[in-house]
Amino acid sequence: MATTAGPTPSDPVTAQRPTTVMDPTATVSTASGVKLTAHNQYKASRLLSTDLPTDPLPLFRSWLAQALNPSPESGLPKVREPEAMALSTATASGIPSARVVLLKEVDSQGFVFFTNYNSRKGLELIANPYAALAFYWRESSRQIRVVGRAEKVSRAESEAYFATRPRGSQLGAWASTQSSDIDEDALPEHVAAAEARFEGKDVPCPDHWGGFRIVPFEVEFWAGQPSRLHDRFRFSRPEAAGPGGEWAVSRLSP
Ligand SMILES: Cc1cc2nc3c(=O)[nH]c(=O)nc-3n(C[C@H](O)[C@H](O)[C@H](O)COP(=O)(O)O)c2cc1C
Repeated sequence: MATTAGPTPSDPVTAQRPTTVMDPTATVSTASGVKLTAHNQYKASRLLSTDLPTDPLPLFRSWLAQALNPSPESGLPKVREPEAMALSTATASGIPSARVVLLKEVDSQGFVFFTNYNSRKGLELIANPYAALAFYWRESSRQIRVVGRAEKVSRAESEAYFATRPRGSQLGAWASTQSSDIDEDALPEHVAAAEARFEGKDVPCPDHWGGFRIVPFEVEFWAGQPSRLHDRFRFSRPEAAGPGGEWAVSRLSP
């Protein structure tokens, strides 16, 4: 996959290495609200059809590796917390909600994160497995969008990951009935109860806690370009084909 930028030195936006150029124009507050007047410019490395593999997951892994640990010769910037992703779910009747979660693994099947299965997102994914993810990497002016079907990861995978978490987070998973209403003082009491329960012992993975894997049937790679003329490629495969399905790729208008 090529990531060369081909800068034009005379142009202040394209002259630099991939990044997002923040417009210093002030945000203006008005009596009725806030108007955002900045016109930021996006400039990623170009993404061309000749750069694309036949499967989007290796491309995602390559972009993620570059974001986490760019090689000096690539000229790419390090991205802060590139694993943070917006996760959209919807109720069985289609009402959407979104929140940020952390990607913990990209395997050959899809994108894995961990959560409380009884949380709002957990219950929504169980009632309606369709989900969308969006990553925005400001430092490299890249975005990746995913649409897919959620499945629970195996119990063994959840337990193995849970065992790697700091003890405080493990106790927190027992103490928090995530997304339910809670009294102001209740959380420290629940944490203290979990601490007492597991004193001197390993903290096991609660049954209500574990991973979801989003198995994609659409993955889009977006590379910001000046004047909003971005490079976009969408990989798609029939949903029913599952992880073995063949991907088709199309370039999308910015
Ligand atoms: C950077 C960041 C990372 C987060 N990572 C997770 C995560 O991996 N799993 C999780 O359950 N919640 C995570 N959260 C909290 C969620 O955004 C959300 O508040 C919580 O899961 C409850 O969402 P829900 O009520 O829609 O289920 C994270 C929040 C932020 C800002």
